[in-house]
Amino acid sequence: MHKDIEKIILSETEIAELCKQLGAQITKDYANSESLTLVGLLKGTVPFIADLMREIDLPLTVEYMDVSSYHGGVESTGEVKILKDLDTPVASRDVLIVEDVIDTGKTLKTIVELLKQRGANSVKVVTLVDKTIKRIVELDVDYIGCKMGGEFIVGYGLDYDELYRNLKYIGVLKEEVYQ
Ligand code: IMP
Ligand code: MG
Repeated sequence: MHKDIEKIILSETEIAELCKQLGAQITKDYANSESLTLVGLLKGTVPFIADLMREIDLPLTVEYMDVSSYHGGVESTGEVKILKDLDTPVASRDVLIVEDVIDTGKTLKTIVELLKQRGANSVKVVTLVDKTIKRIVELDVDYIGCKMGGEFIVGYGLDYDELYRNLKYIGVLKEEVYQ
């Protein structure tokens, strides 16, 4: 284990199992869709979307968006700036937004509404980790890998100050690291 990690929340094996389960459920639910598009939110979702898409046994396209949330103090305000937009329009497509972790939910809610406005046929959300305890806005999350408390986590794409994204597991960062 990395020296800055307090404890492991999801091991490599557990993550693989969650991706399998989520992929199987998504494959079932979208069996009749002819226009599934996964939208991954950069940069944190890169490992998750890579593993998840290979567990979905359906024709699908993959798009990426990079957004930054404006933070008023430490809380996200829900106002987002699009740093990289989709390459292809999502009008009439069944969009599944792939997120690494949902915290307040503000960023995601803004993106869900934006893609609906752009005429997507449907917009759903899959997240690997859901910190339900921190939720501020009302947001339907259709697929959840694992629920956890409010601790700050890193690894498997998730960063602190852009580091730790390359860990194979998700763990809680030792407090002394960010104090
Ligand atoms: P929200 O708008 O508060 O839901 O912000 C969610 C975003 O904050 C996620 O997409 C992550 O990029 C980031 N985030 C939230 N919690 C954590 C965490 O524990 N570790 C790393 N990034 C996090
Ligand atoms: Mg993110």
